[in-house]
Amino acid sequence: MNVALGVGGGIAAYKAAELARLLMEHGHSVQVVMTRAAQEFVRPLTFAALTGRKVITGLFPGENAADTLDSATEHIRVAQESALLVVAPATADLLAKFAHGIADDFLTTMYLAFTGPVVLAPAMNSNMWRHEATQRNLDTLRGRGHIVVEPEEGPLACGMVGPGRLADPARIAEAVNTAIARTRDLEGECVLVTAGPTQEPLDPVRFISNRSSGKMGYAIAAAALARGARVILVSGPVHLTPPAGAELIRVETAAEMRRAVLERLPEATIVVKAAAVADYYLAQVPSQKRKKSAARWSLELDPTPDILAELGQIKGDRLLVGFAAETENLVAEARRKLQAKNCDMLVANRVEEAFGADDNEITLVLRTGEVIELPRASKRELADKIFDYLLQLRLSLHAAR
Ligand code: C5P
Repeated sequence: MNVALGVGGGIAAYKAAELARLLMEHGHSVQVVMTRAAQEFVRPLTFAALTGRKVITGLFPGENAADTLDSATEHIRVAQESALLVVAPATADLLAKFAHGIADDFLTTMYLAFTGPVVLAPAMNSNMWRHEATQRNLDTLRGRGHIVVEPEEGPLACGMVGPGRLADPARIAEAVNTAIARTRDLEGECVLVTAGPTQEPLDPVRFISNRSSGKMGYAIAAAALARGARVILVSGPVHLTPPAGAELIRVETAAEMRRAVLERLPEATIVVKAAAVADYYLAQVPSQKRKKSAARWSLELDPTPDILAELGQIKGDRLLVGFAAETENLVAEARRKLQAKNCDMLVANRVEEAFGADDNEITLVLRTGEVIELPRASKRELADKIFDYLLQLRLSLHAAR
């Protein structure tokens, strides 16, 4: 694989040389891009010798020691030819620039032009690491699906002791390999995702619905796309931008969602039902608005069709993933639903944890009986974990046959 290694300007820059060597050992070819500040700490020659390639040190020919730039669009070429971008050390400055799309040198410009997986290994002083600005930038970057290899705690060059030491190069190389494995592992799959709430009208202006932002479902769609799948996203009303490349089908009611899902099911190899479908609806919706009055209004509601249960009956070889938001007995409820609805995986979270937030804490209950508790993470990171376990599960289900 062609790996682009971005080296930022920090004391830990010398450790990037060890990372370059490890990546070469793993069989990758490595194109090093150094920021101007990085060159104050390590000389490009070190990386050139280790990788057998000229090192890129600037956006313009004058900024490059050797004649490394063949054209004014070299950053686009490197972005297109690299399978992965790893940045180590990722300084607070680089994280901020990546998060906000500032492109003022080769590395930051190349980052914007790059569409593949990104691994970031930050290193900085503990106060800089803990600063709200840095942490918010990291949240943004994690939300984009980038892997952040957390810095380690220990003595820092500035004399402080705390988090901020660049992760061990072996850990960074491992994250690179995980990210590479994920890039195309859903190629050939068609993932059908439902997301958001449904709205069931009571009259022309009122409806009942569930609390759901749609963020988990959209994160699942984004993860599946990044891993090479075709994605059909059946979405209830949400305020989110659909991930580029997803085929979006907008629906409002449970009945519309059911119709869309059943219509597209034949194409799907994986179905993820992240939608918070309303459980009840009003069968006869009046055509006129009900006038407000002091009188009590009683409604007779009918249960909506349980789409997931219906899919469980006709799923065939497809992998079926359901969600369960519970207030109590999380795992027991998830197990019961998994069996009742014939799912392969049930993703359980506590009601109070998930709504509207960018991160979540989930437990996966698998058809095999396995229960996996995942630590709190961004919904986008959790989406990747869901696919990691789902693909493993498919292998073990096949092996068990
Ligand atoms: O039984 P409960 O509604 O808690 O199950 C949640 C799961 O079932 C979610 O995956 C949700 O998308 C799905 N569901 C459905 N149709 C319904 C209600 C829930 O597909 N009418």
